[in-house]
Amino acid sequence: MKNIGSSSFLSIIKDNGIYGIVGAIIFAVVIPIVLAVVLGGKRKSKPRGVPVQVGGESGFAMRNARSAKLVEVPWEGATTLASLFEQSCKRHQQAKCLGTRKLIAKDFVTASDGRKFEKLHLGEYQWETYSQIFDRVCNFASGLLKIGHDVDTRAAIFSESRAEWLIAFQGFFRQNITVVTIYASLGDDALIHSLNETQVSTLVCDSKQLKKLAAISSSLPSIKNIIYFDDEDSANDASANQKISEWKISSFTEVEVLGKNNPAQPNLPIKKDIAVIMYTSGSTGLPKGVMMSHGNIVATAAAVMTVIPQIGNKDLYLAYLPLAHVFELAAETVMLTAGAGIGYGSALTLTDTSNKIKKGTKGDASMLQPTLMAAVPAILDRVRDGVLKKVDEKGGIVKKLFNIAYKRRLVAIQGSWFGAWGLETLLWDALVFKKIRSILGGDIRFMLCGGAPLSGDTQRFINICMGAPIGQGYGLTETCAGAAFSEADDTSVGRVGPPLPCCYIKLVSWEEGGYTTSDKPLPRGEVVVGGASVTAGYYNNDLKTEEVYKVDESGMRWFYTGDIGRFHADGCLEIIDRKKDIVKLQHGEYVSLGKVEAALMSSNFVENIMVHADPFNNFCVALVVPSRQSLEEWANAAGIKYNDFSELCDKTEAKNEVQQSLIKAAKTAKLEKFEIPAKIHLLPDPWTPESGLVTAALKLKREQLKAKFKGELEKLYK
Ligand SMILES: *[C@@H]1O[C@H](CO)[C@@H](O)[C@H](O)[C@H]1NC(C)=O
Ligand SMILES: *[C@@H]1O[C@H](CO)[C@@H](O)[C@H](O)[C@H]1NC(C)=O
Repeated sequence: MKNIGSSSFLSIIKDNGIYGIVGAIIFAVVIPIVLAVVLGGKRKSKPRGVPVQVGGESGFAMRNARSAKLVEVPWEGATTLASLFEQSCKRHQQAKCLGTRKLIAKDFVTASDGRKFEKLHLGEYQWETYSQIFDRVCNFASGLLKIGHDVDTRAAIFSESRAEWLIAFQGFFRQNITVVTIYASLGDDALIHSLNETQVSTLVCDSKQLKKLAAISSSLPSIKNIIYFDDEDSANDASANQKISEWKISSFTEVEVLGKNNPAQPNLPIKKDIAVIMYTSGSTGLPKGVMMSHGNIVATAAAVMTVIPQIGNKDLYLAYLPLAHVFELAAETVMLTAGAGIGYGSALTLTDTSNKIKKGTKGDASMLQPTLMAAVPAILDRVRDGVLKKVDEKGGIVKKLFNIAYKRRLVAIQGSWFGAWGLETLLWDALVFKKIRSILGGDIRFMLCGGAPLSGDTQRFINICMGAPIGQGYGLTETCAGAAFSEADDTSVGRVGPPLPCCYIKLVSWEEGGYTTSDKPLPRGEVVVGGASVTAGYYNNDLKTEEVYKVDESGMRWFYTGDIGRFHADGCLEIIDRKKDIVKLQHGEYVSLGKVEAALMSSNFVENIMVHADPFNNFCVALVVPSRQSLEEWANAAGIKYNDFSELCDKTEAKNEVQQSLIKAAKTAKLEKFEIPAKIHLLPDPWTPESGLVTAALKLKREQLKAKFKGELEKLYK
């Protein structure tokens, strides 16, 4: 994704010639400025959330301004995922439902250091309609009974996102079977723990997982059936595993065919039945299984539907994030509710320049030309860095023009209503932004963003360069993704919008941390979510459930998020801190690790950073993964000799240089002296979800990082 900013808009500039540009600038900039001064005015902020009295004496909360009653279903009768899907298939029979790219060829290229990389040549999207998918879902559900799945036991899906993932998912619900989901990137221990804890008897997986499963089969006593997704490699993988005689191994197609020939009556769930036990890669210890009812997921989908303007049949959604993550699961459920088409891709094949895409062939986005897309902030940050880097490389007039265009659009979005549409927009689009937009297919009209806080800068950048609003969502697995969601016409940054119409949000004072609801100018406190999307609790862990879920006098269920937020006057929530990430130093000062890290990330040298503080010292320290390119450029310019990157990271000069840039970033962000890391350690290897050091949404896993780099951290305190 780093290379996303492919070819720039240079060619357009050449076509139009220099006179064209000057003319365009006069036309596009000067005239609108004059008009804006004459006609301009600020947009008024309208209330998006309003206070509501819920649950007893202390019961002040915020609700969505558009809906006085909590939204629980998208339409009457759609109370479970099974009924919602069946009814949606009836409504949208012939519409595109799920699309998959056909593999045309698979090549291997060898890099200069001898490592081999897989390159894919993928074809057009091949679509199945809603009614075709519905038939496959019914067949799969019937096939399950035929292969002997005991409907009183659970099933699990352990795979990357693909059409069959959703088909299996919906198939299980037609027999009221609870589905356990597990991140494909979790380690063996977490996998064994999740499958054993929930006593899963049927496991659906990628064929490439079969080998891994065989190796740990003795630790999976509850498993009876394995269903693997057929693909070109699966013949080999499956035959290698016939040895595991205690498992019945079937291909997905076999199950579908069996079901087609032996149709069974459905056994549909009700609203409060548990649909999913989702294992989240919590930041400490073993993963916890969050129990989501059908009603929870349906409520979130119904609420998010009301936020995406005019969503429907015409929309195409590019699906590439893991479905085992609640954010993607909720987003795809929204698409199915709306009758939109879901085209599957992957993070490694997203754009024409993505790692796994064969040179000269199309990435998922340019092939699908989606109208809707979801993203996590880390991905959008990289898009932004990629585009800016390209602009910088081109330099000269390209850079100047980009900067003018960017500033003009920024002014238009932030202030006067005039510039927000019309000729000027068209001109800048044609001149500058069209090429950038084509990276994601050119038709994006709305982006959903969630999983972690998005920086204001990046939000603006994507707004302007992609020409589409970003709906920033805030929610956790425990609130079934749904909690708050920013609205398409809200042009502010850094906030996560008002509560979704499926829930209420209240703030609860945290005196110890210095956040209270009587704070001025805005009330602050721990974010607590109540309502239809609040899940049933953690599987097999009442202690933890009782700690963070509470039921009030009125029977409303609330989840205590551990996040610190504040409400703006218009009822929009802003997340400002996290309870766990605030550490009290020896002399009593509080350091908010997340806040300091966000500030220091603005240094060019920082690819990733973890700030560490402990109560026995009066200063903090940091582990830094430096940006390889920036550090090497600096080293070359400074004439520093080194054999490899890890040697460079060990050099005192490199540490000093990075440290100086951190101090500068800290000063710009007005951090206190005790917040600036007094010592740092540079680590050459990036932190990835596969290494278990960050979550799938690329959030730091502090406990794992602390454990892995215990020695390094101890040295920093010596
Ligand atoms: C599976 O869970 C049972 C308790 O339900 C426990 O006794 C057993 O040790 C677990 N096995 C593994 C492999 O974790
Ligand atoms: C669905 O399954 C659960 C758990 O097996 C069970 O408690 C519930 O009664 C079932 N629902 C229906 C409608 O049969």
